[in-house]
Amino acid sequence: MDYDKTAMPAAYDRARTYQPEVLRLWLEAISLEVPKTEVDHIIDFGCGTGRYSGPLSVHFDAELTGIEPSEKMLAEASAKAPSDRVRFCRAAGEALPLADGCADLVFISMVLHHLADPARAAMECGRTLRPGGRLALRTGSTEQSVSYPYIPFFSGLLEIIRERLPSRARIRQLFEDAGLELASHRVIKHQFAASWPAYADKLALRADSFLASLPDPAFNTGLDALRAHAEEQDPGKPIREDIDFFVFRKPAA
Ligand SMILES: C[S@@+](CC[C@H](N)C(=O)[O-])C[C@H]1O[C@@H](n2cnc3c(N)ncnc32)[C@H](O)[C@@H]1O
Repeated sequence: MDYDKTAMPAAYDRARTYQPEVLRLWLEAISLEVPKTEVDHIIDFGCGTGRYSGPLSVHFDAELTGIEPSEKMLAEASAKAPSDRVRFCRAAGEALPLADGCADLVFISMVLHHLADPARAAMECGRTLRPGGRLALRTGSTEQSVSYPYIPFFSGLLEIIRERLPSRARIRQLFEDAGLELASHRVIKHQFAASWPAYADKLALRADSFLASLPDPAFNTGLDALRAHAEEQDPGKPIREDIDFFVFRKPAA
């Protein structure tokens, strides 16, 4: 999806805001696998609005390069101006404008299913990582997609998601073919919204490429059904999402 042809960039952060503890959960999950002392330069691959870029740079006390093809997403990222240790670069992940072995950590969040050529992008990650460097991947997978709480409300959504998201085996193969080895895989559960009504409000912004692909009538009918459901739920019940988290390692030379 070309984000520049959509209205998603302006709504993206509001549609994906987290409580600070959710961000912390992810940063800690990464540094559990990737020692902070081994990270001086991070690539935030497909950084979007940069919601992880500044926090990653601070958490790892490292330089960060955010790579992103969408001008509008990059404008949102640049407006955050996190620090002079974070720079953004307009490019596609299939051709990273960065030197071989320049990165200690490549971070990829929710980008895999957008790539025109995932195999080439994985090779680029392998090329730019130094020997012993790690790739941390937050992603949806075919297997996990059935658990997304919004699926039952939107007709045709599961089919779209299943067609676009890779399976776990495919993800592993992709990066192993690029010369990386799997270090770990787990599913991380995090709070996506504080309640069903808050969840509905986030989804209503439609800053989700799967929801954006639905015909308008299917989206509107689904959102109405979800809002009706939300009214009957315990207002204190948080909505969780389960996200696959992979770490790959480039073998030492
Ligand atoms: C769902 S957003 C994720 C943004 C960010 N990583 C995050 O988690 O908030 C997907 C991003 O991937 C970017 N993208 C699409 N094609 C790409 C490519 N070929 N290389 C790198 N990024 C790409 C999109 O422009 C968009 O900003």
